[in-house]
Amino acid sequence: MKTIDELLADGVSGKRVFVRADLNVPLADGTITDDGRIRAVLPTIKALVDAGAKVVVASHLGRPKGAPDPAFSLLPAAERLGELLGTPVAFAQDTVGPAAHDAVDGLQPGQVAVIENLRFNAGETSKDDAERAGFADRLAALADVYVGDGFGAVHRGHASVYDLPKKLPHYAGYLIATEVGVLKQLTEDVKRPYVVALGGAKVSDKLAVIDELLGKADRLLIGGGMAYTFLKAKGYEVGISLLQEDQIPVVKEYMERAEKTGVELVLPVDVVVSRAFPDLKAQAPTEHSVVAADAIPADQEGLDIGPRTRELYASKLADAATVFWNGPMGVFEHPDYAEGTKAVAQALVASDGFTVVGGGDSAAAVRTLGFDENAFGHISTGGGASLEYLEGKTLPGLAALED
Ligand code: 3PG
Repeated sequence: MKTIDELLADGVSGKRVFVRADLNVPLADGTITDDGRIRAVLPTIKALVDAGAKVVVASHLGRPKGAPDPAFSLLPAAERLGELLGTPVAFAQDTVGPAAHDAVDGLQPGQVAVIENLRFNAGETSKDDAERAGFADRLAALADVYVGDGFGAVHRGHASVYDLPKKLPHYAGYLIATEVGVLKQLTEDVKRPYVVALGGAKVSDKLAVIDELLGKADRLLIGGGMAYTFLKAKGYEVGISLLQEDQIPVVKEYMERAEKTGVELVLPVDVVVSRAFPDLKAQAPTEHSVVAADAIPADQEGLDIGPRTRELYASKLADAATVFWNGPMGVFEHPDYAEGTKAVAQALVASDGFTVVGGGDSAAAVRTLGFDENAFGHISTGGGASLEYLEGKTLPGLAALED
């Protein structure tokens, strides 16, 4: 994979460089609540600006349906990018139309333009190869060179991620190079004990990675909504907790396999339960209690791991040489159910090992709960992307940069 350093060494002054970033940031009423993904791509953009490139930044945001939708405009992300760069950034109100061409034509060396959400065009995500290629051709007309740096989207075979790099000289940006370097440390020659903490709502999203990790990790700690399918598979009643009945046989097979291969599969021993899911907007105190994992009342749902489980998980993380954590342990967005996620984050902070926070909700949790990002070995910008890498899948956006 050629990196941006090679591009810079060849000289890029005056060239139009298309940077496929992942500026898919969370927004609440039009305000960015976590700008981690924008900050993560700054080194690449700054290096290109300093080298005198005309930088065209593109990304998706959310999942609009292939047509313009103001709720998913990239404008807030473009404005934040300008603030972080300390220089105005041009914004084109279309993706490959006259506004995009005007914005790019107007760039002087060292200036930056952001084009509108790539997913406002149906060609971006189309399953039809010709439709995607057609859109990629129109994107290619905006640039001379492609830099892939949207790590969070490399598991998508989309036009700007997979088809476009084939049409232009292409390089990996600094973020992709860093993320791939970290993931290699988790898959090749991993330092042991290797402990993985997995949470999040749905066990079905994590099946493939658990399957793979059962042959790689020494310990797997399970939390979040997905834990209740494991507890049910163990024969416990889980009340009205999140449950994926259809996954119970698969989960049982994983538990048996872990037993046979000597992988420690650790489940909650107590949980915080309530009669109702909390109102995350109101943030008002809720009625809740702690019960043993095998004593969840029929009319209550588990919303966090309990205090004994927090201690147990912290002790299982304490001697780890390598940690990968993906997915919150509970409904961390509400203070009554944030302690489990905080405890795992705290255990990573206290660890002497190499600690990696998988992207998505766990990365957002670390930042919104007030942890210092520098206390972790690496906080990934890609949730789905890092999981698929760990599953051993070929990621289209990385494969396209390899060729
Ligand atoms: C993410 O948020 O994981 C990436 O930006 C990819 O977004 P997507 O799941 O909508 O493709």
